[in-house]
Amino acid sequence: MPKHSMSRRRFLQSTGAAAIWLPSSVKAYTSSEMQALYADGVMQQDVSKWELDTPALCVDLDALEANIATMQTTMSRNGIASRPHAKTHKCPTIARMQIDQGSIGICTAKVSEAEAMFQHGIDQILMTTSNVTSTKIRRAMTLRQVCDGFVQATDSPSNARLLSEAAAALGIDADLVVDLDPGGHRTGITPGQAALALAQLVDQLPALKLKGLLCYDGGSQHVVGFQQRKDQTLGRLIAASDTYDLLQQSGLNTEIFSGGGTGTYNIDHETRGLTDVQVGSYVFMDAQYLGIGGESNTEVYSDFQTSLTILTTVLNDQYAGRATTDAGAKACTINRPWAIIKGESGMSYSSGSDEFGTIRYDADPSRTYKVGDKLELIVSHCDPVVNLYDQMYAIRHDKVEAIWQIAARGMSA
Ligand SMILES: Cc1ncc(COP(=O)(O)O)c(C=O)c1O
Repeated sequence: MPKHSMSRRRFLQSTGAAAIWLPSSVKAYTSSEMQALYADGVMQQDVSKWELDTPALCVDLDALEANIATMQTTMSRNGIASRPHAKTHKCPTIARMQIDQGSIGICTAKVSEAEAMFQHGIDQILMTTSNVTSTKIRRAMTLRQVCDGFVQATDSPSNARLLSEAAAALGIDADLVVDLDPGGHRTGITPGQAALALAQLVDQLPALKLKGLLCYDGGSQHVVGFQQRKDQTLGRLIAASDTYDLLQQSGLNTEIFSGGGTGTYNIDHETRGLTDVQVGSYVFMDAQYLGIGGESNTEVYSDFQTSLTILTTVLNDQYAGRATTDAGAKACTINRPWAIIKGESGMSYSSGSDEFGTIRYDADPSRTYKVGDKLELIVSHCDPVVNLYDQMYAIRHDKVEAIWQIAARGMSA
């Protein structure tokens, strides 16, 4: 594929209308007013996104759908599957869209997230985090009792024994994958003989069924430069592939070997044995991912579109070189790099204050803002931003088409 570069400035300017000025007499619909207008799953009147009370979390439907389609096309071409991580969107409607477009299920990071997804009709769930307390183990196994498609990760023999006891007490057979450490030592057991021994234990313990392996190489997802990222992740996952071979040679079940993320989605099929990618951020994208560069665009990671934005209103324009908005840390988080003002250049945004955001005009700003102006921000890091909102507005061509519940918002336990 020929390499080309698109500068960050050009890329941002191509991302669409940045802001709009509205007279203060224009309605700013609150979330409860919007809920009232969204009867029977249909908007009862046209509302522009620019008429929403702010801060508001918006997802652009054309961009979201394009991202899901891009992922599925790549997966089909590369002969593996996607099992998107719902920790990113926490939204059953998006999980359903992903599954309807070909994903084989979803992942969750927390047992409460898994419960929320199941309550909203999602029944193929891989829980990628180990549950270690008796309460969480019981909750996970209770979920497995009603959800045949629930698979739990484990990374130690003692944890596998506790899961076996809990599953036996409920009279079920629980499906487990062994979580492998890719080298970051965050979670997982060391690949090789230790992992093989754990897989054999899971295979032998009562009330457990071994489904295979999980190895998420989080430390490689944001490596800048496609080739550097590729070299790092493929190198780090060799031990996981070797473990996959060991399981196969021992006659153990390897039907699942899950891993990978948005930064490596078009690399992961080269890891021997990998069955599916646990991609999360690709549905929304964010400033953290934009900076890593892609295979075809070395400057900006433009494989996916920035579908998730925060709408904010300017509160103060009295001081030279800056303006203040209503979206601070509680609307945007304090993750870095800061959120990016969509469609603009020559200015920066920061959200260090709890309730206030700051626009700073650098040299040659593309415009300046006035009190009451609304603008859109490309989020810094999508996962924690979504967790700040109860709902997101689904937008098509600037109009609100739907309101989606972020059902697993705040499900951090
Ligand atoms: C275990 C696991 N899998 C998958 C992902 C998704 O990663 P990304 O958002 O980079 O696609 C994450 C994100 O942190 C994760 O922790």
